[in-house]
Amino acid sequence: DTVVLAYSGGLDTSCILVWLIEKGYKVVTFQADVGQEEDFEAAKAKALKLGAEKAFVCDCKKEFVEDFIWPGLQANAKYEGRYPMGTALARPCIARNMIERAKLEGAKYISHGATGKGNDQVRFEIACYALYPGVQIIAPWREDEFLARFNGRNDLMEYAAANNIPIKASKSDPWSMDDNLMHISYEAGMLEDPNTESRSDMYTMTCDPEKAPDKPERLSIYFEGGIPISVTNKDDGAKVTGALELFLYLNKIAGKHGVGRIDIVENRFIGMKSRGCYETPGGSVLLDAHEDLELLTMDKEIRRLKEYLSVQFSTQVYEGKWYSPECEYTRGCIAKSQEGVSGTVHLKLYKGNIMITGRESDQSLYNQELVSMDVAGDYQPRDAQGFIRINALRLREFQRLKKLHGN
Ligand code: ARG
Ligand code: SIN
Repeated sequence: DTVVLAYSGGLDTSCILVWLIEKGYKVVTFQADVGQEEDFEAAKAKALKLGAEKAFVCDCKKEFVEDFIWPGLQANAKYEGRYPMGTALARPCIARNMIERAKLEGAKYISHGATGKGNDQVRFEIACYALYPGVQIIAPWREDEFLARFNGRNDLMEYAAANNIPIKASKSDPWSMDDNLMHISYEAGMLEDPNTESRSDMYTMTCDPEKAPDKPERLSIYFEGGIPISVTNKDDGAKVTGALELFLYLNKIAGKHGVGRIDIVENRFIGMKSRGCYETPGGSVLLDAHEDLELLTMDKEIRRLKEYLSVQFSTQVYEGKWYSPECEYTRGCIAKSQEGVSGTVHLKLYKGNIMITGRESDQSLYNQELVSMDVAGDYQPRDAQGFIRINALRLREFQRLKKLHGN
């Protein structure tokens, strides 16, 4: 039987690879390139050397940006109002490509190295069951037999040594990372105590804001239908277009200015709270700019409905339901809301901050004359008097009855 293994090249999935072969499976490894820092050729060679029948690397970077990050951006998606979901958005992209590969290989089994306590196992497997009905999942970190044998890192190291699995010479970091072009997440290890400050050398996509340049950098981001089309650097005149190119450019510039770090406690789908540190440089800039442009171009009541949909979408994605009917529905509604979200947002990046300095749009709903303190515009101030009194009516009744009933 053939298993497609989601392979990272690291210690865990290398041990899983050898263990699966030992159990009699034919193993095909699959690596999705979603922009993580990785020597894919070396990882491929390693998988083959360890006994994989075939080793695949699939470049998913562009579709990750266009099909997953852009809908997240259009939704202003942040789980629990804070986490931009760099990992959660990548999972359905990886799963989709891996399933395609499993079908091509005629593999009925899929295996991964996610732990039994996290969100990733749920996201990954829900997507697999949705897109490949009948597929069987092998999750070693949930299997008694595997757990009995590999009780922690030392067992993995010993197994690796005994099975000629090369281990990187460098001492491993005291935390766990998930790395892609949108973000890097850091969890577990020394970060498990939510009151322990992260080490200053932990972050890699962003520089320490305290050490960022003393001079701000000015950017203009042009959106069409809620999607970024170009980024112009007003300091050096550079103009970048193309989804992947502009996203990577923003990562570089925002990273240089220490933008996009967060340190939070979040509620996992499984039920426990976990502490995570994240750096999402380009994504954070785009989220701020997009939300600003929505306020200029989107009707107030549509925006209010959309805010609700944003919370729903974030939960759906975080909980691994990308391929659900409800998530298709929310994405459809959100896409519809973006029709008029076109224009340019001007901002500057400075020592960890994103400072919006202006916005302009052909689709602007802003009426300067109407809002001005200097001219009347098409507006009767007297009307406000009745408006306020009618709005106060229910409150006045509430307070009167409260007193009457003595509570
Ligand atoms: N807590 C984040 C999330 O659930 C990050 C998960 C990181 N995953 C990983 N395999 N290290 O999206
Ligand atoms: C894992 O459990 O594999 C990482 C953490 C998570 O998925 O939430």
